[in-house]
Amino acid sequence: MTVLRLKSETIPVTAGQSVLDALLAHGVAVPNSCRSGVCQSCLMRLEDPSVEIPAAAQAGLKVSLRVQGYFLACSWQPTADLAVALPGEGLDFHTTVLANEDLGAAVRRVRLAVPEGFVWRAGQFLTLLRNDGLARSYSIASRPEDGWLELHVRRIPGGAMSGWLHDVVQPGDAMTVRGPFGECFYTTGRGEDTLLLAGTGTGLAPLLGVLREALAQGHAGPIRLFHGAVSAAGLYLRDELASLCARHANVRVQPVVLHAEGACDECVVGALDEVLLSAAPSDWRTARAWLCGDPMLVARMRKRLFMAGLSNRSIFADPFVPSAPA
Ligand SMILES: Cc1cc2nc3c(=O)[nH]c(=O)nc-3n(C[C@H](O)[C@H](O)[C@H](O)COP(=O)(O)OP(=O)(O)OC[C@H]3O[C@@H](n4cnc5c(N)ncnc54)[C@H](O)[C@@H]3O)c2cc1C
Ligand code: FES
Repeated sequence: MTVLRLKSETIPVTAGQSVLDALLAHGVAVPNSCRSGVCQSCLMRLEDPSVEIPAAAQAGLKVSLRVQGYFLACSWQPTADLAVALPGEGLDFHTTVLANEDLGAAVRRVRLAVPEGFVWRAGQFLTLLRNDGLARSYSIASRPEDGWLELHVRRIPGGAMSGWLHDVVQPGDAMTVRGPFGECFYTTGRGEDTLLLAGTGTGLAPLLGVLREALAQGHAGPIRLFHGAVSAAGLYLRDELASLCARHANVRVQPVVLHAEGACDECVVGALDEVLLSAAPSDWRTARAWLCGDPMLVARMRKRLFMAGLSNRSIFADPFVPSAPA
């Protein structure tokens, strides 16, 4: 029988069971959310460096974590005994809530103080850890130069973390974050490229991060941001986006809604992927795209952009994969 060793405990693993499921079944509180290798909440460390970690269990992890033996517990079904450890204090940062404000559209903007040593790029995501072990990922809309971490949190009906952030969390409260993670950020060079940014709902948060960074870096090429929602009531930060367009001639923001009823004057009614494709640049070799939010839509937009001619290397995507049932 395969076993996990965690501190002084020995925990059995049944055939096909992941490290995460084996530990949870044994009552060990390992933070987790998506259980599909996306959110990186279930990060753990292998204690024996001689054991080879399967590539799938380290997919998406930055090199510095990979070389230290970190892996995603939901993505490893071990077939031999392993000694493992929880990440501990080294990866977690303590911070406080600076502000928690209503942006409309069931979204709150939560600003956190920057913990010492937390280094990120606008558009990446972090894991928010509640004291009881609840873990969820949120994208970072702000740049380090802003001096705070800006998160946009949409209320999910019955949602454990989003409900708590909407109803309970106040400025001054203590928080723990882990990260940053992900590759959804602007990189310098190719400053004339056409940048396509598309997302639904709070998918706007990482896109705003990318947009803010691109402008701060003096990106000169066209920047097209497509913000999708079911109806106009689901759009937010419209004044802030309009003011960005007014100040930067190369930026255009296009709200896209599915329902014509109540649509704003500037809204285009239609499916986000259709509208995005209709803005195709003449030369895909000088384009880059960032796609965030609803996982099915992100997958569809990625596929359609690729089929249209955009290289996979030029597509950066963060699907907001929800938590899996316990
Ligand atoms: C990389 C990444 C980045 C993310 N960034 C953001 C962000 O910037 N802003 C943000 O608001 N969210 C973001 N999310 C989603 C976030 O992590 C949580 O999943 C979300 O806040 C819901 O958590 P909850 O605890 O409130 O709901 P839960 O208690 O986890 O869910 C309650 C129920 O609702 C279902 N559910 C959860 N989400 C959805 C959904 N979107 N649509 C339909 N059903 C759902 C669950 O499956 C469950 O049945 C991101 C996710 C990932 C993986
Ligand atoms: S990556 Fe393992 S729970 Fe999300």
